[in-house]
Amino acid sequence: MLSATLLVLAVAGCGRSASTGTTGVSEQETPGALTGPPTPTEQLVAKGARYAITDGCSICHLSGSRPHSGPSFYGFAGRYVRLTDGRRVLVDERFVTDALEHPGRYSLRGYPPRLMWTVLARLHVDLQHSPGQIAALAAFIEQVGPEA
Ligand code: HEC
Repeated sequence: MLSATLLVLAVAGCGRSASTGTTGVSEQETPGALTGPPTPTEQLVAKGARYAITDGCSICHLSGSRPHSGPSFYGFAGRYVRLTDGRRVLVDERFVTDALEHPGRYSLRGYPPRLMWTVLARLHVDLQHSPGQIAALAAFIEQVGPEA
C-alpha cells in the first residue's frame, strides 16, 4: 500500500522534473493530509521517490523489464545480490549509500557494467556532490524493498 502511495507521489513529481532540475524539489509538494503531518522519514522517502524520477533512476529501475534496465527497486532492498567479483552483499540503506557515493565500487553480476554511471553522467546527475540526494534515494529504495 505504501509502495503504491509512493509511486503516485513519484509520478506526481514527474511533471515538474524538466523545469526544476535535480535541486528543484520543494518540501511543500509532500502531501501531509493523509494521516497527519508526515514524519521526517516519510518526507525523506517522498523526496527520494521524486529524485528517482528527476535523476533518471526510474528509467532503468522502475520501468519493468526491458533490455539494459537495472534491477527493479521493488524488492531490491532486503535481499542479497551477487557482485561481479563473486561477493554476496545485502542491499540495505548503507550499501546503497556507499554505492552511490562511490561510482563503480560495486558491479552487480548479470548486468551491463558502468552503464548506469555513463547514463547518469550524460544526464548531468552528479550524486557524489549531493549527499542529501543520496540519503533521500537510499531511504526511498530501502522503503520500497521487502523489508520496509
Ligand atoms: C541506464 C540505466 C540506469 C540508470 C539511469 C540508473 N541505474 Fe542503477 N543500475 C543500473 C544497472 C544496469 C545496475 C547493475 C549493474 C551495476 O552494478 O552497475 C545498477 C545498479 C544500481 C545499484 C546497485 C549498486 C551498484 O553500484 O551497482 C544501485 C544502488 C542503483 N543502481 C541505484 C540507482 C540510482 C539511485 C539511480 C538514479 C540516481 C540509478 N541507479 C540510475 C542501471 C541504471
